[in-house]
Amino acid sequence: MPLLIKNGRIVTASEQYAADIFCDGEQITRIGQNLDAPPGAAVVDATGKYVFPGFIDPHVHIYLPFMGTYAKDTYETASRAALVGGTTTLIEMICQARADQPLAGFELWHGKAEGQSACDFTFHQAVTRFDQECESQLGEIVKRGIASFKVFLAYKGAFGITDEELYHTLRLAKKLGVITTAHCENADLVLELQKKLLAEGKTGPEFHYWSRPPRVEAEGVHHLLTFAEMHDAHVYTVHTSCEESLTEALAGMQRGAKIWVETLIQYLLLDKSHAELPNFEGSKFVMSPPLRDKKNQEVFWNALRQRFVSTVATDHAPFDFKGQKEMGRGDFTKIPNGIPSLEDRVNLLWTHGVAAGRLDRHTFVDCASTQAAKLFGLFPRKGTIAVGSDADLVVYDPDYRGKISAKTHLLNIDYSAFEGWEIKGRPHIVTVRGEIAAKDGQFTGQIGRGKLLKREPTHF
Ligand code: URP
Ligand code: ZN
Ligand code: ZN
Repeated sequence: MPLLIKNGRIVTASEQYAADIFCDGEQITRIGQNLDAPPGAAVVDATGKYVFPGFIDPHVHIYLPFMGTYAKDTYETASRAALVGGTTTLIEMICQARADQPLAGFELWHGKAEGQSACDFTFHQAVTRFDQECESQLGEIVKRGIASFKVFLAYKGAFGITDEELYHTLRLAKKLGVITTAHCENADLVLELQKKLLAEGKTGPEFHYWSRPPRVEAEGVHHLLTFAEMHDAHVYTVHTSCEESLTEALAGMQRGAKIWVETLIQYLLLDKSHAELPNFEGSKFVMSPPLRDKKNQEVFWNALRQRFVSTVATDHAPFDFKGQKEMGRGDFTKIPNGIPSLEDRVNLLWTHGVAAGRLDRHTFVDCASTQAAKLFGLFPRKGTIAVGSDADLVVYDPDYRGKISAKTHLLNIDYSAFEGWEIKGRPHIVTVRGEIAAKDGQFTGQIGRGKLLKREPTHF
């Protein structure tokens, strides 16, 4: 059914103006003043509201076998929650074990999403081993439309790769024109620090931080850059958490390295004191890299405002408190790492970014949508509002007031890291390729309508 959105204030990464938007089929076909609705069209009145491009989360985990368990969401639960919160495209990490082939990983992960997602999706392909067979399979995966890799410098023995493999992965990435996203932490340092802390009887969740202090992450960023610069390969540091890492990335930028930085909504709003909560509550806040000292938050808000940090993602990795986080009672190294935030990223970024005066509306759209589309080969199909773009739109109500709670969220997890937090604004209407998929906190979309987005390499 055709869709007309009337009287809204359109905001993109670079423009702001009042206009109506008409969508016929899956795309935006007209933008203008006083557009008329043809018979049978759905009409949304956006008076007093903003109209943003659908938001993109460039780093999520939905199917994730990890640390002896599985992340809790499925594409059905995750895509419903994403849409209600304004996220219309997910980029998931394919994280096959080191023993598994990348093509088998791609097919497994794709199979979990196809026919199960209400929103569009694509993947970053992890490289967890590098040999001749992997090399040719990675070439095939890129031909199938997956134009980004993922490497882990952490998680030795699970997803982590050696320096030799890192060298060859980045060389291949450069040749294929794909960007390599990277988890930057020095795996050996983490292992040694974990052993030392446990031997000293420091077993609680609060010690997770001390096994991965800022320099461990900064060394990872430096390490990645050293290898990337050998090939002039394009890299993207995922979940960048601290000033020390950002300083390494900025130094790389100054040298001319092709590096982009992602941070997470968790790092902007939560800090290491959350992981120090008593009665094992801190385990809800255990993730890697760990939540940092509060002083880092201002550094990242400033860097976002100056656009030195490109994206705000979630690294959504949901593990229940009961039965999953609890696996690490008495040994913090066994707490499944991850914090869920997929449903709340946009509203929290709006509330603490725009409504709090830290970000302007364009920067908000840029870091939550447009930059991800540009970096990962989705622009201008996604990430903006233009004739010919997919009609993924968020009609946003800045006057809404509400609270986040695990009692009401759509995610399939038994806690929220933001329990009781106030939000000032939420999506009124969310569309996916011209169809209304969420309204005022309710999912109204169609499971299975989400498509795999095929992407061309752009990072030559
Ligand atoms: O703690 C985290 N970040 N869990 C998810 C896996 C990863 O490293 O991204
Ligand atoms: Zn990671
Ligand atoms: Zn991740």
